Amino acid sequence: MDYKLSNTAKEILLNNFQEKGFTIPSKGLYPFQWLWDSGFIAIGFAHFDIEKAKTEIKTLLNAQWENGFIPHIIFHDESNTYFPGPDFHQANLHAQANKKYKSTGMTQPPVTGFVLEKIYKIATEKEDILNFIKNNIDQVYKNHSYFYENRDPHNEGLVYIYHNWESGTDNSPIWDDIWESFDVPDYDFERRDTSHVDPSQRPTKKEYNYYLHIVDIAKECKYNDYKIAELSPFLVQDPLFNAMLIKSNNSLINLYKIIGNNDTKIEQLQKWQKKSITSFNSKLYDEELGAYIHFDLRNKKPIRFISSPSFSPLFAGIPNKEQAEKLINTMITKFGGENMYLCASFDPTSNRFDPKKYWRGPVWVNLNWIIYYGLLNYGYNDIAKQIKSDTLEILEKVGFYEYFDARKKAYTKEINGYGGSNFSWSAALYLDLINN
Ligand code: SER
Repeated sequence: MDYKLSNTAKEILLNNFQEKGFTIPSKGLYPFQWLWDSGFIAIGFAHFDIEKAKTEIKTLLNAQWENGFIPHIIFHDESNTYFPGPDFHQANLHAQANKKYKSTGMTQPPVTGFVLEKIYKIATEKEDILNFIKNNIDQVYKNHSYFYENRDPHNEGLVYIYHNWESGTDNSPIWDDIWESFDVPDYDFERRDTSHVDPSQRPTKKEYNYYLHIVDIAKECKYNDYKIAELSPFLVQDPLFNAMLIKSNNSLINLYKIIGNNDTKIEQLQKWQKKSITSFNSKLYDEELGAYIHFDLRNKKPIRFISSPSFSPLFAGIPNKEQAEKLINTMITKFGGENMYLCASFDPTSNRFDPKKYWRGPVWVNLNWIIYYGLLNYGYNDIAKQIKSDTLEILEKVGFYEYFDARKKAYTKEINGYGGSNFSWSAALYLDLINN
């Protein structure tokens, strides 16, 4: 196959790279540094400019808080193209917030651990990259300690998120019932996202009222995790978020073994790992649906819907063989078929599926990448090949957008992707997929 977009992908990353040592996800729409975007972006850079990959991670870790927390957005520059900015979030209400970098007071899926391992594998100068990892890995370990010590109130090995923006899957239909469970004020604010992107592809004003209100509640708690666990109306154990943590635990174990002399940390990581995987399989696996699901910790009930995050545990080696088989069968029967590209972000057979709206149905390159490696893990090479070729085909058809229609018939002459254009992680992970 001729990977004709390889140069374009590199150009996008280089154009989105900023002087201050980080890469914006997409011009205008996302003008700052985002945690999980940075991780995927670093993987892309590792394929052609390892120094930028290191810089990306270093800049992210520089914004870490004293308690190990890493924020989801780091506001390196002023910008009037994004709302809500640092003045709304007021992360410095937390006593241990980073004094140098303005940020949000919420986090995002903890990808940094597995990103370090991935970069180690890609890099050709192993000694150099290992030195870099040696100098930075303890900060990632500290981030994992933060999660287990502060985000797991019932000591289950499963950490909570208190905001849909922490999930990364912002307006997934998974949250719909949670929004029904409490009232919110009608905020008066100026949307910026909808001046960059067709509003039909973005969350609604009403949804933004909820998003802002939970930030306000967290602010009242001064971003204290224990208070948030008590008071936030949104409190969820998310399979994608926890799978990323578990995968990253595993990568930290592998890397500490290569580095040597870190037995105590390895032992601690193994303890977390054992507990997390056991709870994950007993609490988040839904036998009847044949899929992993979210758990609403506030209202103490499972959220029984299937989404692309349902398949992410494959990436972290969480399901046993039988569960993996069921999971893949669920994916093929509900999300697959001749007319569909893998993998829609939400169950296409559900009446909540929306093929164009943000996380309510479209295909996302990062989730496809996660599922692709997950399928390879379990030896499902044919379907792995399919999800990879679907991803490449879409990107080569319409370019590096933020998200894409899963319905093949939607690709008529004028079709584009959806959301932001020249989107960094779509470009970065394209580079990784074609090099695998
Ligand atoms: N992705 C979010 C947004 O749409 C924030 O993380 O602004």
